[in-house]
Amino acid sequence: SYTYQATNEPILSYEKGTKERDSLIEKLKNYNSGIHEVPIVVGDKEYTTDIVKYQVKPHDHKSRLAKFYYADKALLNKAIDVSQCALRGWDLTPFEEKANIFAKAVDLIRGKYRFDLVASTMLGQGKTIVQAEIDAACELADFFSFNVKWANEARQWQPISAGKAVNRLEWRAMEGFWASISPFNFTAIGGHLAGAPAFMGNVVLWKPSDTAILSNYIVFKLLREAGLPPGVINFVPSDGPVFGDVITRSPFLAGVNFTGSSRTFEAIWRNVGDNISTYKSFPRLIGECGGKNYHLIHRSAVQSQECLEHIVNSTIRSAFEYSGQKCSACSRCYVPKSLWPRFRDGLVDVVSGLRLGSPLDVGNFLSAVIDGNSYKKIRNYIDQAKKDGNLKIVCGGGYDESIGYYIQPTIIETTDPKNLLMYEEIFGPVLTVYAYEDDEYDDILKLIDSTSQYALTGAVFIADQEILLKSQRALRYSAGNFYINDKSTGSIVAQQPFGGSRKSGTNDKAGSPQYIMRFVNPQSIKSQS
Ligand code: SER
Repeated sequence: SYTYQATNEPILSYEKGTKERDSLIEKLKNYNSGIHEVPIVVGDKEYTTDIVKYQVKPHDHKSRLAKFYYADKALLNKAIDVSQCALRGWDLTPFEEKANIFAKAVDLIRGKYRFDLVASTMLGQGKTIVQAEIDAACELADFFSFNVKWANEARQWQPISAGKAVNRLEWRAMEGFWASISPFNFTAIGGHLAGAPAFMGNVVLWKPSDTAILSNYIVFKLLREAGLPPGVINFVPSDGPVFGDVITRSPFLAGVNFTGSSRTFEAIWRNVGDNISTYKSFPRLIGECGGKNYHLIHRSAVQSQECLEHIVNSTIRSAFEYSGQKCSACSRCYVPKSLWPRFRDGLVDVVSGLRLGSPLDVGNFLSAVIDGNSYKKIRNYIDQAKKDGNLKIVCGGGYDESIGYYIQPTIIETTDPKNLLMYEEIFGPVLTVYAYEDDEYDDILKLIDSTSQYALTGAVFIADQEILLKSQRALRYSAGNFYINDKSTGSIVAQQPFGGSRKSGTNDKAGSPQYIMRFVNPQSIKSQS
């Protein structure tokens, strides 16, 4: 029987000559040929509709990876009904049984389906091997295995019984259904947005991102194979506004578990507000939204060439791994003027050696951005930099969408720290740097805070402990994930619980025990003898 232990899943190296590499190559071949069919799944039935869509490979956008269908209003409403039929039975299923199902899912992620998850994430979402492995294999397994451990620990807490009263807290699901709306950039986030409420006894309508459809479908299927009963999670790819409209008009909406843009989250919140008196219960809204994450360098941080290289490499990894499409990616950097020439040369030197290309070629550091819309948006920011007198392209600046949605890793220098490039989320491989006067440091702290409309991640590189303390205080609310002498990306489940406030979301900290408690609807029971 299951022991409720959890450890972070080690990252496979996929080095030449290893079995795992051969297995992955086999899967890549398989998924790279033909178009893979992804149905809508409601209850135990698969559906197709006449709204046909395709997922293409970002690095080769004329090549289709998957064919899928949008659920229409009628089918979404049916999914709500089906979920409500599944709710009571699933909610009353003993904790141990639910834990066993999710523990089984962890085994399937780590074993049988690992290479399917990694291959489909590489091809469909444009991730290199290592980026796909840390996401679709490790982080996904970690979310589920730690959630099981934490829920098991949390349920041990019980109220005090006094006198003749026996008191007890009973965990219940929330009445109604959760709507899980997941992004393209992490397969693990998709699985977690749907899997976490389901594990806690709730039923879910999962709207995956169009551009992550295949990997997300594999996650859904493996959850079913692990024993998740039909109707607990319903896999309903659909048009965003249509889905939003159906769920927010249903009196049974229990909550929205969302990762995506701040604007979309606001629109959902507004719709929920408009319908607020129609719901059976007040819906809970969980959002992980945008970011405009910073690296701040203080001159005390660079005491040797090695220190400088560490900061250069950290900044490049944060800004350009997965083409800057992690919500945590660094996209603005503040560096003292006395350091800027050396730092700039270091950045340019490393960036000029980064290879951009197909994720299937292991020598490539980054690949294409996710789709045409994203490509255009990023390109517009780069074009802006070519025109604006306050901005100068330090390196990169090129783009080409003839084969894939390719954008060069681009570094821009600004003389205006309030330029839009230091303020708006770009979600692409574009880093803007402001070189500040060394004696202007206190003003820079204030400036970073005041230009942080988002507050997701931030990193400071500082050796002087007094300066560090002062900086931490000044930047207290500017980041939900704060890094000292390390890059702003790469949070690990159970090590750096993830999330931010301000326009970055509700800061419910995925990858921590407090996150799963959002899905519990406790009943306090006093029994008098
Ligand atoms: N958890 C990821 C990171 O920290 C972003 O979603 O990079």
